[in-house]
Amino acid sequence: MTASAAPAPPTPEHEGMPVTTPTPRVDLPRLALLDSAPTPLVELRTLGAPLGSVRILVKRDDLGGIGAGGNKLRKLQYAVGAAHAEGADTLLTFGALQSNHARLTAAVAASCGMECELFLSRRVPRRDPAYESSGNLLLARLFGATVHEIAPEADAVALAAARVDALRASGRRPWVIPFGGSDATGALGYVDCATELVAQCGALGLGGPDHVIVASGSGGTQAGLVAGFHAAGTATRVHGVSVLHPAAALAAIVRRLAAETCARLGHGAPPDAQTEVDDRFVGAGYGVPTDAAQQAIRRLARAEGIVLDPVYTGKAFAGLLALAASGRFAPGATVVFVHTGGLPGVFAYAPEFAPESAPAPAGAAA
Ligand SMILES: Cc1ncc(COP(=O)(O)O)c(C=O)c1O
Repeated sequence: MTASAAPAPPTPEHEGMPVTTPTPRVDLPRLALLDSAPTPLVELRTLGAPLGSVRILVKRDDLGGIGAGGNKLRKLQYAVGAAHAEGADTLLTFGALQSNHARLTAAVAASCGMECELFLSRRVPRRDPAYESSGNLLLARLFGATVHEIAPEADAVALAAARVDALRASGRRPWVIPFGGSDATGALGYVDCATELVAQCGALGLGGPDHVIVASGSGGTQAGLVAGFHAAGTATRVHGVSVLHPAAALAAIVRRLAAETCARLGHGAPPDAQTEVDDRFVGAGYGVPTDAAQQAIRRLARAEGIVLDPVYTGKAFAGLLALAASGRFAPGATVVFVHTGGLPGVFAYAPEFAPESAPAPAGAAA
């Protein structure tokens, strides 16, 4: 984990906001948004046995932090740190209606005394009440964000640019965070995660890790991990389970972003082999649950009490199970699943979980 220098005192206009700390890796401010750092690394004990001699560990990036936690907090530590340092007072960002990134941007804005405007696309073909009003959307509104719901074919970036002009004209200082917080600034958050993992695996007497599996959408999380392992000198393979793009397109995005992130750290580009992408688990499209993901969610919930979500981590864990079953991991390999959060999605997709949430039949044992 990145060591932090003495925290700078909060400025009077942002009394109570998370402290900003300089990071020793790059000359950029970083907000302290995680409850615990490093996040826990836990072994899957009951689920592990059927996966043979492969040791599966879970990096609990789903736990804790502002706004109910998740991977976007690591990115927002840097993205909003930069915005705050520039005196921004309004954050604008993008996502689908049930975006975890949008929910967490709203929470971080609230905690920093900033306004937040979200441009949320109706790209996922769902219109049921749970999807339209629960989960991440409910929380984003609770955090006080202004939500602009936009049609799937609308140009969200152009709409946000027009809004930036209007905000500037009214004397405000807007700051746009890209889709998923995925640029070389946001990806630095996952360099920190890779650094933590190398230290945690070392402390357990394990090398590597050999393989890391993560859900990959806009690619910044995977790219940060690749950059972080490369900078740490490990040959860790980072498998992105795509939730959106075809494999070749996502691999190109991740490799470019990993190279840009490494350049900021003063390193050359990582070898292409360090980035692997698997697009077999997307199913019918982004935000459309698959049977494999639903089974993976139930399996991990019932074996370990860990909650995955139907859009990202359920598909990624289904990918991990398939890779393990196909013998992709050598016996004795250390495999880490990075749990990137997304729990509010379970509520947004409540109809898929209807049998579990139905009341027990009358007369059933309590
Ligand atoms: C829970 C969760 N996991 C994984 C991802 C994928 O991260 P990235 O967009 O950096 O690829 C996201 C992105 O929104 C997410 O919300």
